[in-house]
Parts: sequence; C-alpha cells; structure tokens
Amino acid sequence: MTHTLQRRAFLAATAAALPVLTLSTTQARAFAPTDHSDFENNMDKAGDALKAMRSPMRDLDNDDARHEAAMLANTVTIALAQCVKFAHQAPIPVRSESKYDGDTDRFATDLRIKLTEAVSAANALSRQLLMGNTEEAQNLYASLRQARKEGHDEFEEED
Ligand code: HEM
Repeated sequence: MTHTLQRRAFLAATAAALPVLTLSTTQARAFAPTDHSDFENNMDKAGDALKAMRSPMRDLDNDDARHEAAMLANTVTIALAQCVKFAHQAPIPVRSESKYDGDTDRFATDLRIKLTEAVSAANALSRQLLMGNTEEAQNLYASLRQARKEGHDEFEEED
C-alpha cells in the first residue's frame, strides 16, 4: 500500500472509531487525528534539535554553548531511539518496492539497523561535548549528519 493510501486508510479507520457525533465541534477538533505517525513526529523532533545545534556547535569554546549542544544531541538520541521503536510505521519507498516485495518486517529491520547507527553517533556526540573534547565532537557531528543523509537516501520516500 502506498504511503498516501496507508494514511487515508488510517484516517478513515480513526474517523469511524471516534464518537464525533456526541462531541461539540470544538471538542471534535481537539480529538481530530493528525496524519503524522509517531515515526514522523519523532523524526521531526530529531530534525528540530539537529537544526538548533548549528549555532552552539560554532561556539564550543563557550561552556554554555557546549552544554546546550550536548543537551540537543541528547534530544536527537532520544527521538531517533523512539524512531527505532516506531520503524514499522514508515512506508517502503516506491524505489525499494521490488527489493522488499511487500516484506514490511524486513524493511523495518533494515531501517532499525541503520537508525541505531545514528542513535550511537548522537549519543557519542553528547558524551564528547560534555567531556569538552571539541575536535571529536565536530567529527561526530559530521558523522551524524552523514548518517541522516545516508538514511534518507536509502529509506525515505522522495517527494
Ligand atoms: C540526525 C539524524 C536524522 C534527522 C535529524 C532526521 C530528520 C528527519 C525529518 C525532519 C524527517 C521528515 C519527517 C516528516 O515527514 O514530518 C525525516 C523523515 C524520515 N527519516 Fe529521518 N532523520 C535522521 C536520520 C534518519 C535515519 C538514520 C534514517 C534511516 C535509517 C531516517 C529515515 C527516515 C525516513 C524513512 C523518513 C520518512 C518518514 C515517513 O515518510 O513516514 N532518518 N527525518
């Protein structure tokens, strides 16, 4: 099933399950389902934290900036570890359909293996920042961005 179809099916099933008719319009809106999966929400969280790291990563001689970068790297670790948990929600990209032939479990396992690489890089980055090893931290920051690029090149649907 394509991602769009999966989303439509999810929305239809959720809408059918909600007792919306017994709720006021405002309440119904508050309970309305979003079309973002837990996987996407956690990827978004990782994305926001990585983006926020740009500025403190340029100022690592400053203890406050280094600490801020370490806490943001930790947020990336947590969000990506949640993605490992929710990997079965990510759709097989069209370009990989023949490779997986509908084997969603195998796809989720491959996705999880690659994700753990980024989780390790993010955690190691936080550790080196806390220890004040700025050169190692810069290398791990580059590795983390590389893991993101490779992960998206292989597993993310192209727009
Ligand atoms: C620092 C590392 C990473 C960051 C900051 C990041 C960030 C993001 C963001 C912002 C999105 C868009 C989410 C949305 O559609 O709302 C996304 C999607 C995605 N990412 Fe990552 N990502 C990272 C690493 C990875 C890795 C390592 C993999 C694979 C092993 C991966 C696989 C995916 C997939 C499959 C999607 C598409 C989700 C969907 O359409 O349901 N990402 N990522």
